[in-house]
Amino acid sequence: MSTVVAIDGPAGAGKSTVARLVAERLNYAYINTGSLYRALAYAATAAGVPFSEIDQNFLNSCQLEFRGADLYCNGKLLSAELRAPECARGASVISANPLVRDYLMPVQRNSANGQWIVMEGRDIGTVVFPDAEKKFFVTASAEERARRRMLQGEAGADFAAILADIKARDERDTNRAVAPLKQAPDAELVDTTGMDINEVVEYICSRCR
Ligand code: DC
Repeated sequence: MSTVVAIDGPAGAGKSTVARLVAERLNYAYINTGSLYRALAYAATAAGVPFSEIDQNFLNSCQLEFRGADLYCNGKLLSAELRAPECARGASVISANPLVRDYLMPVQRNSANGQWIVMEGRDIGTVVFPDAEKKFFVTASAEERARRRMLQGEAGADFAAILADIKARDERDTNRAVAPLKQAPDAELVDTTGMDINEVVEYICSRCR
């Protein structure tokens, strides 16, 4: 039996940093499920498969496996390539495909593997682990999320373009038919607008102890 802390929320809310630090602080394992969607988008692009043509055969050719928090696809470690903006957009597009979501469900559930774990994504508290012990929905206004991304210095981007990109991803992630981004009824809302990372980490840890 795993003990799961689910952290869901929209793109750019600082979930990944928060979830990683919470896991470190509590001494839990950490899994970022967005990297699975990114890995499939990356693999499709590398194989020349258009996102609209991702089918079961293609999915069966991608062996995804976490070793600790590191993600391997067919034995190759994926890391920096997954952070490219094209990969993020591709992940958001393919995540609406039910075959993709079905394929990734057991990968996510198996990766918990009986551990105490912090798992972050969009549908962890609603679909992947509806019985998670603790659920948080971490968000911030779209403007705040765009400002944070600007500060991280995405090369050559301007504020209006980043804000438009965030809003487009929110729109896709919230309105897809299967497992849309939404707060679980029993999840605690953490609006991080105006909070710094340490305050958010401290708050979530205090709710888990
Ligand atoms: O968290 P992220 O930005 O790395 O996620 C990339 C995309 O993957 C996101 O736009 C939607 C999708 N995703 C999802 O649908 N369900 C998850 N549990 C995690 C990510």
